[in-house]
Amino acid sequence: MLISPQRKKKLDCKNITWRLYLLFLFCGICFGEDLGPSECHREPVNRFDCAPEKALNKAECEARGCCYVDDSLGKEQPSCFYPVNYPSYRAVNPTSTENGYSSTLKRTTKTFMPDDIMTLQLDIAFETNDRLRFTIKDPIQKRYEVPIETLCVASKPTDMQYDVKIIEEPFGLIISRKKNGQILLDTTVAPLLFADQFIQMSTSLASNFIYGLGEHLTSINLDLNWTTLTFWNRDLIPRKDANLYGTHPFYVAMEEDGSSHGVFLLNSNAMDVILQPAPALSWRTTGGILDFYVFLGPEPKTVIKQYQDVVGYPFMPPYWGLGFHLCRWGYTSSTLTREAVKKMRDAKMPLDTQWNDIDYMDSYLDFTYDPERFGDMPEMVNEFHQAGMKYIAIVEPAIGLSSPHGNYQPYEDGLKRGVYVTNENGQPVMGKVWPGPTVFVDFTNPEAHEWWYESLKNFHDKVPFDGMWIDMNEPANNVHYVPVDDCPDDTIENPPYVPKVVGGTLRDTTICASSKQHLSSHYNLHNLYGFTEAIASHNALIKIRGKRPFVISRSTFASHGRYAGHWTGDVESTWEQMYYSIPAILLFNMYGVPLVGTDLCGFVGNVTEELCVRWSQVGAFYPFMRNHNTLDATAQEPYVWSKESQDAIRDAALKRYMLLPYLYTLFHKAHTSGDTVARALFVEFPSDRNTWTIDRQFLWGEALFITPALEEGQTEVKGYFPAGLWYDLVEGKKIESKGEWFTLPAPLSTINVHVRGGYIIPAQEPGMTTEESRKNSLWLLVALSASGCAKGEIYWDDGDSLDTYKKGDYSIVLFTAQDNTLLSEVKQIEPEAEKLKLDVVTVFGVAAAPSKVLVNGATSDNFEYFPKTKKLKIEKLSLPVGNKFEIKWA
Ligand code: GLC
Repeated sequence: MLISPQRKKKLDCKNITWRLYLLFLFCGICFGEDLGPSECHREPVNRFDCAPEKALNKAECEARGCCYVDDSLGKEQPSCFYPVNYPSYRAVNPTSTENGYSSTLKRTTKTFMPDDIMTLQLDIAFETNDRLRFTIKDPIQKRYEVPIETLCVASKPTDMQYDVKIIEEPFGLIISRKKNGQILLDTTVAPLLFADQFIQMSTSLASNFIYGLGEHLTSINLDLNWTTLTFWNRDLIPRKDANLYGTHPFYVAMEEDGSSHGVFLLNSNAMDVILQPAPALSWRTTGGILDFYVFLGPEPKTVIKQYQDVVGYPFMPPYWGLGFHLCRWGYTSSTLTREAVKKMRDAKMPLDTQWNDIDYMDSYLDFTYDPERFGDMPEMVNEFHQAGMKYIAIVEPAIGLSSPHGNYQPYEDGLKRGVYVTNENGQPVMGKVWPGPTVFVDFTNPEAHEWWYESLKNFHDKVPFDGMWIDMNEPANNVHYVPVDDCPDDTIENPPYVPKVVGGTLRDTTICASSKQHLSSHYNLHNLYGFTEAIASHNALIKIRGKRPFVISRSTFASHGRYAGHWTGDVESTWEQMYYSIPAILLFNMYGVPLVGTDLCGFVGNVTEELCVRWSQVGAFYPFMRNHNTLDATAQEPYVWSKESQDAIRDAALKRYMLLPYLYTLFHKAHTSGDTVARALFVEFPSDRNTWTIDRQFLWGEALFITPALEEGQTEVKGYFPAGLWYDLVEGKKIESKGEWFTLPAPLSTINVHVRGGYIIPAQEPGMTTEESRKNSLWLLVALSASGCAKGEIYWDDGDSLDTYKKGDYSIVLFTAQDNTLLSEVKQIEPEAEKLKLDVVTVFGVAAAPSKVLVNGATSDNFEYFPKTKKLKIEKLSLPVGNKFEIKWA
């Protein structure tokens, strides 16, 4: 609905007495020349910063037409803020279009930022019943737009769940939930600014519970107490209030009634998002256009799916990628690398993939290996393959120029083919990374993709690696070796507004923003650097191996999960960082990047034995599990610890291997319908407000609940259990919760994992590799609800071929339990699953000892009942999973 031209009502001046009181209080402090008391009366939490780019004194602030109140009510609230009537845009003749609205937006007064765009075009599109999109751009001069593939809209929605109001002057948009009028987005709280290099829009928020806007070191719900979240991908040891490796300008917001919605700003320029306790949020970006999506949910799960409908569902990882990965910086020879694998085997630790860091390279050059230290690298990789393992090597986007051994061909070829990022003179931009002087591949150039593929292919012909680890792709550049005045001194390098980036300038530890890439300037594309490298690597791997690609990247952007996974970078080996790994992983799952993990035991610094055990336990439940360590830190592989610690780590790793059929099924669901794999509690239980801030526990899908010990010296752990039944994974001991906190024993030897009543989890006898595990028999864990029911399923395929789902080369078998009977239903079956046999069924929550068990009608004696925990274990079943079966107990 459009509303007729009107001046927007002043927001805060509800009560005359209050206004008079403030008049006295601020008399002589707050009023600019033309600003009356009501214009400047904004409660501190509702002030929107009118001095975003620099601190202003009273005179300077008032000179730009803003209010100045230097009160000490709160340290972080702005003292210079927009008055209610700050000149903004006016919507001129908004009109209905076939699928939404459009309007011209005009402003007549310039703002304090240079190069205001005085006329804008607003387009609102009702894309689906639960999703709308609006863009605001320059109708005359084409501006940069993010070059990611987003979903096209097929049909016109007929039952939109939202209402849209356009406030004409000052211009604003109000989007609300039709069913209850809940406001989801209200941009009238502050003026819209749209200048060439500064775009700002603000909105009120529906509650204080907002999730997302990564990548930052945060708890799961964001702190709204004047927090600035900066988006400018950067190589940095993760710390609070800093821009980190990736950019995902998407949030999920809870509403007071437990509904939720999401907002995505598709913009890749350097950006700040400011959160304030109003509650409200402001986007401040330094370029591009405003391209917003609003998702109506109403469950957090559906919001996350709706977001992925736009940015794409995640790729399906190979089965082996879900196993244990071992890495460190400092395996300086093939001998040391082999030794690590052997020690893992001797310690009977599962290990699927061995990695090498930059140590393997010849002079740190991509596509090479050191002829001395790694002379037999091809043989080493072949040996790993023969042992049923895989191998991954790091690859860098910064290409060295020369080598002591002569011409470095990949560099020369790249130069001829023009695949590097260039400076204003058309010369490759120079930086300094591992090999010394380097140039940077421009992954927005199709020719660079070809060159990348060919270079990798040549290397793969020698060293048959299986996956890729792409690092330093923010891109990182060690500017401390390069004088900073190498970048031109212009407004691209020094925009009128510089987001709160670490180091204070855009060029800090990266390449100049003015550098040129095939699609646009680096200023626009910086945040896409790692993402575009991930696409090139994903596609190259498919062409080279003809199998499912496996790429793990440090830098990411929205839509990354379609192509690759992520690890959370150079975290320190501290208890605090171990805790932060949980919200990080849950948030990346919300961004559609389910294949994510943190380096087990931490990367920077020496880990203690206890911390490494605890980290290995929680890490066994990261969707991506890799132990990785920095160059000079003390060893932290599982086998270096005492017997007791090794037992604990092995136990956690074997639990993971046992649960891989379930994890793989969850990845299939993520791939085909945008589900999360590692799931935050609030996503699964949004109507239980207690879950809205929980980030020390998490779920795998709907059914598996992990309560790790995250503190030093802990022997017990407190966990919140949403209402329902929860069974201890091993013993089957029941927790019956009404939505309560429980204290659980947490000896160092184990991690608390529970199965949710009402669910069936497919599991498998673990092996030392996934290749081995996949040949073992299947187990089912049946966790009965209070009414004695449960359901579950398994997705299975060969684990490595491309597009198995698309081609129909997969199996799905559904399981249900009811009335003391477990049934299977074969939805689809292919040869791989025909090899699988179900051998063990464990039923949790069987009230009384059964007197008999019938398997497909025949009596079986192979069962045991554990009266203390009410667990029934039925063994030696040998049932082909491809055939329908029925198991009864009575
Ligand atoms: C970066 C990576 C780290 C790697 C190191 C050496 O710091 O984040 O994982 O070990 O470079 O390549």
